[in-house]
Amino acid sequence: MHCVRKITEDLFYVGASDRRAPLFEAAHPIPDGVSYNNYVLLDDKTVLMDTADRSVADVFFQNVEQALGGRSLDYIVVQHMEPDHSASLSDALRRWPDAQVICSAKALTMIKQFTGVDLGSRARVVKEGDTLETGRHTLRFMMAAMVHWPEVMVTYDAADHTLFSADAFGHFGAADGKLFADEVDFFRDYLDEARRYYSNIVGKYGVPVQGLLKKAAALEIARVCPLHGFVWRRDIDKIVAKYDLWSRYQPEEKGVLIACASVYGNTMNAARAVMARLSEKGVKCALYDLSATHPSYVLAEAFKYSHLLLASPTYNNGVFVAMENLLHDIAAHTLQNRTVFMIQNGSWAPTSAAGMKSILEGLKGFTFAEPVLTLKSALAPQQEAEVDAFVNAICESVGGQA
Ligand code: FEO
Repeated sequence: MHCVRKITEDLFYVGASDRRAPLFEAAHPIPDGVSYNNYVLLDDKTVLMDTADRSVADVFFQNVEQALGGRSLDYIVVQHMEPDHSASLSDALRRWPDAQVICSAKALTMIKQFTGVDLGSRARVVKEGDTLETGRHTLRFMMAAMVHWPEVMVTYDAADHTLFSADAFGHFGAADGKLFADEVDFFRDYLDEARRYYSNIVGKYGVPVQGLLKKAAALEIARVCPLHGFVWRRDIDKIVAKYDLWSRYQPEEKGVLIACASVYGNTMNAARAVMARLSEKGVKCALYDLSATHPSYVLAEAFKYSHLLLASPTYNNGVFVAMENLLHDIAAHTLQNRTVFMIQNGSWAPTSAAGMKSILEGLKGFTFAEPVLTLKSALAPQQEAEVDAFVNAICESVGGQA
């Protein structure tokens, strides 16, 4: 008995969760696992939406067979060829030799690249607006290039108003038998991991995500079935609103992400002193030690907050490596519209502020605020007034009380 769950009378969840892999895409920690979602539609024809990651292949195939209940599979829709959704495709093609593959032209090329298989007449290439009649349902395919790869498409079932959204609206975290976002307290317990998933996986592609949101806005949508995370049937507008903010690179909250790199703790002490004063003044802020926190978490916080306070020692005449990694990550994900304050430290030649600025200054809508707080090895007692002025400048910028 597996975790097959009914979504509607003829649509079934057949995905699987993994809690064993330490990293997603060999890059992002997933301490709470991740789900790889698939759906089987049992109409006059049977349809499987995507395949699965190798790590869950056994359970995935058992789930699909259980949902099919002895029927054969007529179609495999390949919405996305990243291997977390396609590593089992070769096995699926062997298991269901009569199934036709429905995919975009770019996906067909990738199928050949990844599997070595030339699908020939087994493939039906679709383009924007093409449809597949399965009986009661008509599936309409909509191209969603760069959400998150160029071959991506999403699928709309007009009969039941279901949007199969590929990577969009996914999140990290195993499903563990839960199916719908309203079966958990999503915005309390899962929003942070949805933001971390969005910012790290899809964050660079804000413009294509905006394009997809516009297409989705023209549809009547009763449920959203993503390739990771929970199915949405309530509060769809709330998660769409988050996606709208994230993909326009607009902050969710007025507040300060304090990202601190510190070799011996002195830069951290200064960052904490600033955090204490900001908190006293009612400014929302969150502090991360970049040597202790994976950058994927801090990048997500940079997508959340309006202001970044970057604190780094000078190291090898540049920026300390933990900070450098974060800033390159922020730049690679093309974050926009943030105000940056900086603390630099240097025992003989402090230059890390200039180094930090040089990594980020090409980003659209980034403002580098004055003053920069400079430490010579450690915050000195005589810098009290300087710290107050620094904190007041942040408060004024955030819009809190100075
Ligand atoms: Fe979940 Fe872009 O793969």
